[in-house]
Amino acid sequence: MRQGTIINNVRLKDDYYKVDFFAPEICASARPGSFVHVRISGCGDHILRRPFSICNVNESGELTVIYKVVGAGTEALSRLKSGDECDLLGPLGKPFSRPLDDEVPVLLGGGYGSAAMFMLTKESKTPGVALLGARNSKDILLSAEYRAAGFDVRISTDDGSDGLKGRVTDLLPGVLKDYAGRKLHFYACGPMPMLLALAGLLPDLGYPESELSLDHLMCCGVGACFACVVKIKADNADGFRYARTCSEGPVFRADQVYLEK
Ligand SMILES: Cc1cc2nc3c(=O)[nH]c(=O)nc-3n(C[C@H](O)[C@H](O)[C@H](O)COP(=O)(O)OP(=O)(O)OC[C@H]3O[C@@H](n4cnc5c(N)ncnc54)[C@H](O)[C@@H]3O)c2cc1C
Ligand code: FES
Repeated sequence: MRQGTIINNVRLKDDYYKVDFFAPEICASARPGSFVHVRISGCGDHILRRPFSICNVNESGELTVIYKVVGAGTEALSRLKSGDECDLLGPLGKPFSRPLDDEVPVLLGGGYGSAAMFMLTKESKTPGVALLGARNSKDILLSAEYRAAGFDVRISTDDGSDGLKGRVTDLLPGVLKDYAGRKLHFYACGPMPMLLALAGLLPDLGYPESELSLDHLMCCGVGACFACVVKIKADNADGFRYARTCSEGPVFRADQVYLEK
């Protein structure tokens, strides 16, 4: 457990905020896809921590999280000011793999999932593709930052308020066509329905090794309580076992995810 002193905590747009913590020990071992479990000071609920993906770290020991205000915890976090402190546990979880030099990373992000994958832009030798999808333009995050990192950014929204009108999966055919002959590696983070759709789709397209960060409600965050389990394929009578997303994930291979019939 480490103290994270807030450096900045600002509204990015609508319900989204960006908080920078001074947390050098966590920054030293943070990887794309890992998360911090935050005890939010000033939150009426002092027991439960809240998990947030690490969006970015720098050599000065600053750790960035982008979060959406959805309930009491994130609302309390949004009221904290520079100099306030939170307890941070982390970095936690199994992160994304490092992109290989000859691979084009294709990132599929829904909502804050775009923030959860942002550090892959630093680990990738080859500029990749960022497919950012959301219900509407308010939930599209970091498009300018991905472009600045050299990524080919393509956007979809359910209501057509930004980019293609449709689902983020509707952007896949264009990428497969434009990058034909290149070695693609898919990474995804976002709402569970999007991830389950990708777990069905990507192996069928020939990409079973695609990596999905499964977002599930969490409690302890360290593998002790089994509050965060998902079904993962297993060689047993049921065909699945329960895996803890906090310690065995949150990142799983697409072909490991058990899909209900
Ligand atoms: C590994 C991981 C990484 C995450 N990273 C981020 C991040 O970078 N940015 C961010 O904004 N959020 C992230 N989340 C979700 C975030 O943890 C929740 O939004 C937060 O805990 C809500 O706390 P709250 O007290 O404000 O809301 P609560 O009062 O606890 O919940 C409000 C509403 O949000 C729903 N909710 C809570 N947690 C989740 C969840 N995990 N998935 C879907 N719905 C949820 C509840 O069911 C409820 O409807 C992450 C979750 C996980 C598991
Ligand atoms: S949250 Fe307790 S085991 Fe995952």
